[in-house]
Amino acid sequence: MDSRAAIIQYVPRPGIIDLGWGHPLPELLPVELWSDAGQTALRAHAWQALTYGAAAGPGPFIEWLAEHLDSYDQGNTKPSEVFVTNGASHGLALAADLLTEPGDVVLVDSPTYHLAFPTIADRRAEIVAVPTDDQGVHPGRTAELRERFVRAGRRVPMMYIVPTFANPTGRCLPQQRRLELVDLARRTGLTIVEDDTYRELAYDTPAPPSLWSLADRGSVVRLGTVAKSVAPGLRLGWITAEAGFVRRLTSLGYVNSGGGVNHTTALTMAAFGASGAYRRHVSAVRRRYAVQRDALIGGLRRAAPDLRFSTPAGGWFLWVELPEPLTADMLAPVADAHGVAFVEGARFFVDSEHGRSCIRLAFSMLPPDTLAEAARRLGQAVRSARADATVAAESEPGRERG
Ligand SMILES: Cc1ncc(COP(=O)(O)O)c(C=O)c1O
Repeated sequence: MDSRAAIIQYVPRPGIIDLGWGHPLPELLPVELWSDAGQTALRAHAWQALTYGAAAGPGPFIEWLAEHLDSYDQGNTKPSEVFVTNGASHGLALAADLLTEPGDVVLVDSPTYHLAFPTIADRRAEIVAVPTDDQGVHPGRTAELRERFVRAGRRVPMMYIVPTFANPTGRCLPQQRRLELVDLARRTGLTIVEDDTYRELAYDTPAPPSLWSLADRGSVVRLGTVAKSVAPGLRLGWITAEAGFVRRLTSLGYVNSGGGVNHTTALTMAAFGASGAYRRHVSAVRRRYAVQRDALIGGLRRAAPDLRFSTPAGGWFLWVELPEPLTADMLAPVADAHGVAFVEGARFFVDSEHGRSCIRLAFSMLPPDTLAEAARRLGQAVRSARADATVAAESEPGRERG
């Protein structure tokens, strides 16, 4: 297709069921409901809906959001602690901009959201993965790592983490570690940038408390978005941070010039929220994504029993460990030939030597029967690639045969 004519980011590949994209199921995007909310907002606010907006975002949205956030995560967020952004990605870029200087060390969870790397690298910071184990970030060893950099004369102002229904692992950081991390931030002045993108997509039990809700003010900048619960095309998200940080955001030059960054959409979202449509929509979306998750997991258990993964309690992703001696780069071309694709695990690590035996599967964008077929194809690809890899390993020169 002529790229000048492109409308959307997703590029389909003929014959391939692509589990690589963390995008929503198209039919869950609320076209009619959003159109109704748009009309409601325009009628309610008339010309004020279409002029330059208040710097931090329009009052009706911020008030709805502060109340809504506290209804499922007791952070006691005040309207003065909210800044409306163009999504969580924009929130991260803004936070990195305000918190870091070129040459600083930015700590990141590992594995973590791969597209956070270029956003942080835009600031010319050095990205360093923190020590982790099977429960996620290890706060004690993270404190030691930070200390080593500081002793070497480096600034370590920020850590980025997705602690809830993480991309790519789907995991939640345990409560004790949440408490230890916010304590580390309080003691050292490290600011934790908490990417809370998947909080609302909890399928089995409520999401754990955010770091924002557990921390003293000033320790955590929390990023939120409606990209996963309503629609990514709205480019609507927010930062919750202490009021002084929000004031720094509102006085940025381009905000002064252009006003609030997503005014009309935020007012529409306020109408969508106030009418109850949001709550109903999110409940429906949660049910559907849980069914999709279960379809992919059920399919893999049947068709690919030698893959190892745990069931994510929320979010959009399954983090899968391949059986030895398979690596993701060996599997990818074979999977392609069988008509299925995924993201290779190494993409989510700072150092691409890690995660080579892992793959990330997104269950968000495809209906249950397609996910079951993807699992069947992946099972075939794993068997075929594994047989090839085993033959190759056995025929390595110098290898003992017995
Ligand atoms: C962890 C995480 N953060 C941020 C984003 C992007 O969010 P937004 O569309 O609100 O910029 C994604 C999307 O995949 C994500 O997985």
